[in-house]
Amino acid sequence: MEQTLMEKIISLCKRRGFIFPGSEIYGGFAGLWDYGPYGVELRHRIKQYFWDKFIKEREDVYPLSAAILMPERVWEASGHTELFTDPLVECKICNERVRADQPEAISDHEKKHSGEKMTWSEPRVFNLLVETKLGASEATSSKAYLRGEITQGVHVNFKNILDSMHPKLPFGIGQIGKAFRNEITPRDFLFRQREFEQMELQYYVKPDEVTAQETFEYWKQFALDWYYGLGFKPGNLRLRQHALDERAHYAKDAWDIEYEMPDVGWKEAWGIHHRGDWDLRRHSEYSKVDMSYFDEETKEKMIPWDIECSGGVDRAVLFTLMEAYTEDELGEEKRVYLKLKPFLAPVLCAVSPLLKNKPELQEKARNVFGMLKKEFGNVAYDDNGNIGKRYRRQDEIGTPWCIVIDFDTLENDTVTIRDRDTGQQERVPTGELVSYIKERLSV
Ligand code: GAP
Repeated sequence: MEQTLMEKIISLCKRRGFIFPGSEIYGGFAGLWDYGPYGVELRHRIKQYFWDKFIKEREDVYPLSAAILMPERVWEASGHTELFTDPLVECKICNERVRADQPEAISDHEKKHSGEKMTWSEPRVFNLLVETKLGASEATSSKAYLRGEITQGVHVNFKNILDSMHPKLPFGIGQIGKAFRNEITPRDFLFRQREFEQMELQYYVKPDEVTAQETFEYWKQFALDWYYGLGFKPGNLRLRQHALDERAHYAKDAWDIEYEMPDVGWKEAWGIHHRGDWDLRRHSEYSKVDMSYFDEETKEKMIPWDIECSGGVDRAVLFTLMEAYTEDELGEEKRVYLKLKPFLAPVLCAVSPLLKNKPELQEKARNVFGMLKKEFGNVAYDDNGNIGKRYRRQDEIGTPWCIVIDFDTLENDTVTIRDRDTGQQERVPTGELVSYIKERLSV
């Protein structure tokens, strides 16, 4: 049977050092994945692109990095201890628990018992927060949670940002970091994990319907344009409004950016939420610290409203890989390559000597490699196997350019540079390589 795209990607990720099952030598651990050398590079580049566009290039957004562990009271205030739940049902045959609102999970499980008489328990609610204890002894330890969303680290620091940075509304706070959820049915590789990374912006505005709506529209479009910037084909992403019964407890309005996953269908990539004053008001009440903002011009005191853009880093990695995965025929041979945008590629270019056993080619290739490495950083020296094998390997990693030093290089100081997508080669003077790559690297 033909493998699904997801299966092909999981296999490529393992074979080529992108992503491995968590704690694999102990049999793996559901919902946990470890990033290998190329996976970390790809993820890092996606996060950097978020950081640049949502934070660094803006005057109105402050960066933050809050702690992962937070006390129980934070999650009581945010409503998560009470309301951050999923419905679960238990299989009466094997006691496995499955999300009651995920028909695919239910039908996958029922297939395992085909021929048997299946029954499920009544649905009950299950809290997703991951709980732990901090402290030296049972008696003195206190309950803490690994954050279920990175958002609360921002809201609890709202007053610190006001007092230290003195921002004027509207302004935002951006953050990237790990979040943890005790997902009942982790599934679909990076799509639904128990430990994952989020990239978020909380954008605070005056508590006014018109301002909030305009800001909401602005960030919806901004986030969608950002996502397309990762290299998605027109029409493969869409915005969809949540129905009332889909919305999280904090959301007055909610839209998702969705990606049409091949073989699967439309799936959430980002959430854009109108959180109103929910978080700041609740933290004011629970902490007894006044979280209001004072407008110097109008002399008004107010609790700002929050428009949130909340993106999953790992889902962006997965969807980018799905979008980039390409099979074609080159020189009558089947091949697989990742059509990644150059700014995302874990390896920007690979430098090789035509033959491994010729010291003069090796020396020149090391020189060209050194020059490019100094300029770009993510450059590989690859002299394993023959040239054809090197090209195939670099194609699968998504390396946009392969540079080969041959005997002509020693004569006229030009190299061949091969384009990943077309397989075409050009001769370029060594002195022009940096500008050749820079011209093609722009986001
Ligand atoms: N602060 C709001 C918030 O956390 P969310 O819709 O629950 O909202 C935001 O999560 C994003 O985080 C999702 O759009 C998704 O990309 C990512 N995400 C959520 N749960 C995830 C999981 N179990 N595994 C991987 N990514 C997840």
